[in-house]
Amino acid sequence: MADNKKQKLVTGLTSHPKYIPAWYNYDDVGSKLQHESGEINRDYYLTRSQISFLELNVQDIIPRDSNELTLVDLGSGNCSKTRYVIDELMKRQKMVQFYPVDISGDFLMKASAVLSEVYDNSLVIRPIAADYEQGIIQLKHASGVKFILWFASMMNMSYDDQVNTLRMISSIMTDKCRLVISVDITQDKEAILKAYNDDAGVKRRFYQYGIERLNKEEGSVIDLARFTYGIDFVSDLSPGYMSYVRAYMQAKEDMQCPIPGLEIDLDIKKGERIYFHEGEGLSCKYTLEQIQNIVHKAGLCLTGTWMDEGKHVAFCQCAVVQNGFYWCCASHIVGGDIHSDVLQTLIEAEGLTRKRSIGVKLDNASLPDFPKLSEPELSDLTMGVYQLKQAKSYTKVHLAEDGQYELMLCREKPDLIKVQIRSRYVASKM
Ligand SMILES: C[S@@+](CC[C@H](N)C(=O)[O-])C[C@H]1O[C@@H](n2cnc3c(N)ncnc32)[C@H](O)[C@@H]1O
Repeated sequence: MADNKKQKLVTGLTSHPKYIPAWYNYDDVGSKLQHESGEINRDYYLTRSQISFLELNVQDIIPRDSNELTLVDLGSGNCSKTRYVIDELMKRQKMVQFYPVDISGDFLMKASAVLSEVYDNSLVIRPIAADYEQGIIQLKHASGVKFILWFASMMNMSYDDQVNTLRMISSIMTDKCRLVISVDITQDKEAILKAYNDDAGVKRRFYQYGIERLNKEEGSVIDLARFTYGIDFVSDLSPGYMSYVRAYMQAKEDMQCPIPGLEIDLDIKKGERIYFHEGEGLSCKYTLEQIQNIVHKAGLCLTGTWMDEGKHVAFCQCAVVQNGFYWCCASHIVGGDIHSDVLQTLIEAEGLTRKRSIGVKLDNASLPDFPKLSEPELSDLTMGVYQLKQAKSYTKVHLAEDGQYELMLCREKPDLIKVQIRSRYVASKM
């Protein structure tokens, strides 16, 4: 394992509380266990719900206006769900370029070999064995209009990592590209606890595999029998967050566990927990508003959302926000109560994104009472589709010659402020 990955493991195991990052469970053996835990576990509703949706509705999630799509699958696993998409694409185009990306390298190669047998030369497979960050960097060189899948995987990251990874994905998307994420929208606590603590213990075996892998590869002798397995569900319906499952094992007694390969000694106290994920939880659950907020924070907007009949899973299609102008609401700044979605509706209904010469330059003299904003107010202003939210590193290209953003008041709606943002892809249109 690469040194930076080992370092991340050490960080997790020496943190308070201790944790094993979720990605560590995915090697060849762990990936098999993961797929079994989705397919054999009768209490796990998510895999079944996704498949029953894709069987009947896969055509809905694929963009219609392009018939030369390059398919990307992030966290591709055994590609069993991807095959519904590939089959549908094959009806529309003679040849499909396919980039599966997965951290579990051997498993990825085996899944790719199976696909090449099934689809022959009509599927050109270019597997990328890497984590998301490195994979996305490599995808910058992929040609064609990308149709990117990220099925059942975003939910296993911390909230910030979800937003950051979506932002990285958006950096390789042009205006025609689409991303589809599948997310768990189940909120029934009883069903959730059963799914992650099934009677047959299939999920437990998958989560605990991280410890088995440590013993196998790093020379530790951690005895699982000296721990109990535990699952909690934390429900948080606030629009700016999500609900999540916490999966852990809890020590029945004090123990010392040297891990020679990582050059650390784990000192575990009776009752202490080792979590199977970084951050607050994994297998996150969302309301549709929460999903909308996450994608907006990453510079994407939802272009379609579909649910299965049982309302367990949502497939959310996203596009990059067509920039040009980002808007924020002056009446919001001076104390009005305009929610980001209201702003989006207003701007789109008025066709303001298409109108060019509708700004009056704004300076200190024209807005003398610009208020000081609290942190929550600032974060409100940077949440939605038309709010300012570009990272510092992107911002440089948008500054005027004197190093300032040029602010303009909208002529037709003087309580809107607009800022010109040059698109990273369609600068010539600006
Ligand atoms: C829950 S499985 C989903 C697999 C597949 N998309 C599906 O829906 O059946 C998560 C997948 O993401 C991969 N994965 C986990 N962490 C990753 C990371 N940081 N970078 C790349 N792949 C990762 C795992 O190896 C696994 O195949």
